Amino acid sequence: MQAPGLTYRKELATNLSVQLAPKNKPGLLLANPVMTASGTFGYGTEYSHLFDIQKLGAIVCKGTTLEPRDGNPQPRLAETACGLLNSIGLQNIGVEALIRQKAPVWASWRVPVIVNIAGETINDYAQLASQLDGVAGVSAIEVNISCPNVKAGGAEFGANPKSAAEVTAAVKKATSLPILVKLTPNTSDIAEIAMAVAEAGADAISLINTLKGMAIDITQRRPLLGNITGGLSGPAIKPVALHMVYEVAGVVKLPVIGCGGITTASDAIEFIMAGASAIQVGTASFTNPRAPLDVLEGIEQFMKKEGINNLTDLIGAAQHKIY
Ligand SMILES: Cc1cc2nc3c(=O)[nH]c(=O)nc-3n(C[C@H](O)[C@H](O)[C@H](O)COP(=O)(O)O)c2cc1C
Repeated sequence: MQAPGLTYRKELATNLSVQLAPKNKPGLLLANPVMTASGTFGYGTEYSHLFDIQKLGAIVCKGTTLEPRDGNPQPRLAETACGLLNSIGLQNIGVEALIRQKAPVWASWRVPVIVNIAGETINDYAQLASQLDGVAGVSAIEVNISCPNVKAGGAEFGANPKSAAEVTAAVKKATSLPILVKLTPNTSDIAEIAMAVAEAGADAISLINTLKGMAIDITQRRPLLGNITGGLSGPAIKPVALHMVYEVAGVVKLPVIGCGGITTASDAIEFIMAGASAIQVGTASFTNPRAPLDVLEGIEQFMKKEGINNLTDLIGAAQHKIY
């Protein structure tokens, strides 16, 4: 019973859930917006003893190809100021082993798992999508279009709107799973690519992948990475990623997933306010394996402090604001 004179304020539960594939049936409903970024969280199993990974919104697994791959020559990692250069080269177990060994484990999890796919030809992507269609434990596909198109002289699929749209359409045709298309920042007009993949049938767009970069060993007088170039990630790329998310969210009507240097909850909230419906934590997991959970808890605290009950009220809050 309430004491006379005291006003009773009901605590409303914070709703962090988000639908990332509203046009797909059954869709891709996440309990919260915090995902892991491909290639930085293995197959999820590697982290399950460190914290309760089932609390996350979704797990995106390592980039997966048709055949197993050993990856690029060593050295494959180099630290930079506020960032990391990697040239792992899509080392992975291949789609068949993934379906046999990993998917049955994921099928028993509450957290949805999204399989990130990579190929050298449009046909590779289509075949991967068709093999994953209907596999228990796989909730969606993330299409990494930062890979070189071998039949077109090695330019990244995602560097031009035509090839980006072709890959998207081929994957869409091959599967009924929700499709997230992951954009490369290594292009002159990312908004144009985003519009092309939206038109070609993407359910959601994730961005950004790593920025092309390199480092030189000055004593050896040669490139530090065995592959000469690599992909830059971590806090160093956050302002670039944030701007690209802001730009893309302003032109497409699909859910956008922000990624690039997110280390703290306030980084994540910036991306959400720029228009991201969900975010991915990548390189931050290498220094703090609990980073995705810390980010989630921080978002929840922020919403409580600000009196926001629904995450959707924050999405795009900073889009086109006039000060
Ligand atoms: C070691 C490493 C491996 C990665 N592997 C993949 C991959 O297989 N597929 C993919 O789409 N992105 C891959 N990425 C890119 C990340 O998923 C993410 O887009 C990028 O690192 C930016 O986010 P971050 O700054 O939070 O790491 C990889 C990144 C790193 C650092």
